[in-house]
Amino acid sequence: MNFINSIRVKAGVLVLLALLSSPILKAQPKMTQKPSAMKILVLFNTESGGTYKMAKAIAAGIEKFPGATAVLKQVPRIKPLANEDKQAFGKIPYASITELPDYDGIAFGSAVHFGNMSSDMRYFLDQSVGIWTAHKLEGIPATVFMSAGSGAGREAAILSFWSTLAVHGMLIVPTGIMGNQEIDKTIPQGNTVFGATSLAGATAVSRPSEGELHIAALQGYALAKAAKGYQLTKDSAPMAPGKAVSAAPKMSKTEARLKALNLTLPDAPAPVGNYKPFRISGKQVFINQIALNAGKVDHPGMVGTEVTEEQAKLATRQTLLNVLAVLKQAAGGDLDNVKQAVQLTGFFYTAAGYTKHAVLMNEASNLLVEILGENGMHTRATVGASSLPMNSSVEIQAIFELE
Ligand SMILES: Cc1cc2nc3c(=O)[nH]c(=O)nc-3n(C[C@H](O)[C@H](O)[C@H](O)COP(=O)(O)O)c2cc1C
Repeated sequence: MNFINSIRVKAGVLVLLALLSSPILKAQPKMTQKPSAMKILVLFNTESGGTYKMAKAIAAGIEKFPGATAVLKQVPRIKPLANEDKQAFGKIPYASITELPDYDGIAFGSAVHFGNMSSDMRYFLDQSVGIWTAHKLEGIPATVFMSAGSGAGREAAILSFWSTLAVHGMLIVPTGIMGNQEIDKTIPQGNTVFGATSLAGATAVSRPSEGELHIAALQGYALAKAAKGYQLTKDSAPMAPGKAVSAAPKMSKTEARLKALNLTLPDAPAPVGNYKPFRISGKQVFINQIALNAGKVDHPGMVGTEVTEEQAKLATRQTLLNVLAVLKQAAGGDLDNVKQAVQLTGFFYTAAGYTKHAVLMNEASNLLVEILGENGMHTRATVGASSLPMNSSVEIQAIFELE
């Protein structure tokens, strides 16, 4: 065995010892029952083997978890790699995109290429649209590890990798600070809070370093732990649609018309005597209102002397809105429950000989049709009166039919 090979063997033994002596890996949970089997994919892309070494450490960590089996696979290459069959990873099979949903967890490993995943990994994941739109990876735990050169952009590379996993709805497992206190701080290490990386370009020790492999193993174990939770819950029923996911409350057609007309119904005036604001008989509603507005009468007095016709029209509109405010109450709070208007009778405080009652009453009729549409059409009577309650210039008596 030449010097280089002997160094390699020693380094391999050291790495193995480091993995086996890892305190977290030693601390196995005591299982009273035989654990159910879990299959976790370690899917990687490598050219010079750095990511493969990290993948093996991830797999070793996964298999420390009771019942978990790691399956190592490569992503297919866009361009064949010369002498791949002679590389240590040459015999590792290629994965197909459709098999990804078959696993209880997936660890994705790639070289850092310009602060991103490798193009082989990107190309492979770009073929996952079918399983994405079928929601096949949702909830499956996933984690990302990488091999870098100097380490430039390695954290950004993991985070941008995470975006793809998030779009798939996968449950992302980060490394946090796990294992940090156990690694040699006198040399540069690739550990990040997002996932294990290796600084293949850093000298001093062979790469991945013991510390980098140790953190990769812990990451594999953490993924297996999350996969156990997924395995136990994956067959649970999907959330039943409830109020939170139902459509926003829909605005009634009549409310929408009022809004479009920039109108707000007033508060329904309270009765000022021993009577009800409305009475329902069969499906018919009977209502009487004057031009009350916030407790006072709008434009009181005789039309043509104390009140102009324009003022009387305004009072008529106010009276009709009062009618509708009461009608809304009678219709259970929604004017869409009104089938149709039936009859309006307008009383106007006028002098003897006054003849333009219809002109005044058109204000109420037009407004009603604007608000209720075709259902607002009605028969009508108009009457002149020698006086009206509270000196109102107008009173409207209305009959509607409910649905
Ligand atoms: C196209 C390309 C881009 C790279 N970009 C980066 C980079 O942004 N940051 C970095 O630290 N290393 C970068 N490297 C170095 C590789 O990440 C590094 O060699 C890695 O260990 C290769 O992984 P592998 O052994 O699994 O193939 C780049 C290498 C190539 C070929």
